[in-house]
Amino acid sequence: MATIAIIGGTGLARMEGLEIKSREMIKTPYGAPSCPIIYGELNKLPIAFLARHGSTHKIPPHRINYCANIWALQSIGVKKILAVAAVGGISKECTNGSIVVPDQIIDYTTGRKNTFFDGMPDEVRHVDFSYPYDDEIRQALISSAGKSGAGVVDHGTYGATQGPHLETIAEINRMERDGCTIVGMTGMPEAVLARELDMAYACCAVVVNAAAGKGAGVISMEEISQGIEAGMHTARGIIEGAVKVL
Ligand code: HPA
Repeated sequence: MATIAIIGGTGLARMEGLEIKSREMIKTPYGAPSCPIIYGELNKLPIAFLARHGSTHKIPPHRINYCANIWALQSIGVKKILAVAAVGGISKECTNGSIVVPDQIIDYTTGRKNTFFDGMPDEVRHVDFSYPYDDEIRQALISSAGKSGAGVVDHGTYGATQGPHLETIAEINRMERDGCTIVGMTGMPEAVLARELDMAYACCAVVVNAAAGKGAGVISMEEISQGIEAGMHTARGIIEGAVKVL
């Protein structure tokens, strides 16, 4: 049984090197997950893989059924989630191609279903979220990333925006004042839903562009695509290394 799951983001809808054994579309009380869960082996270690944006990358960040995805992973016995995400870099150290393992989140998303604990008829419940990411998984990612040759930033604050448009320069400046070092559109509510269902969760963020106002000129989709292609290859290796020690 796979107790470790990888959630693949943009550019990682398939996990190279994963020996696929089977696929399963899980029915959940929250509707359909993004796609079937893939069960397979990565270097002989059993893992589950879920493509966040669907197997053909058609689900935009604001339409992802985060509750169904996380519930599905818990229902098959997953205890640890390694989430891969493409992000924009805000702080100087988070340059294109670098790998960031954030330790904090600020949620700027709106209108997403962000809890399993909806109250009535159940009792009111609150989870602690002081440290949103699991430290054991973070350390595994950091040490694996250190061996990859990529620039590694071992902490940071992930600002989760609603999208699907990229941010204005003023928004990024505000996020920077808030302490955000990277920006992406899928970090929340994914992280908090995993916490609510008692699964350890951490994020391997790949910087694929300079956030609005932080690079030269406007952000081109070509720049992002190139960043994704180069960065996700590195991310795959880092995930493989991290799974070995978890
Ligand atoms: N902003 C938000 N999400 C992103 C970005 C960005 O600049 N790059 C990749 N995902």
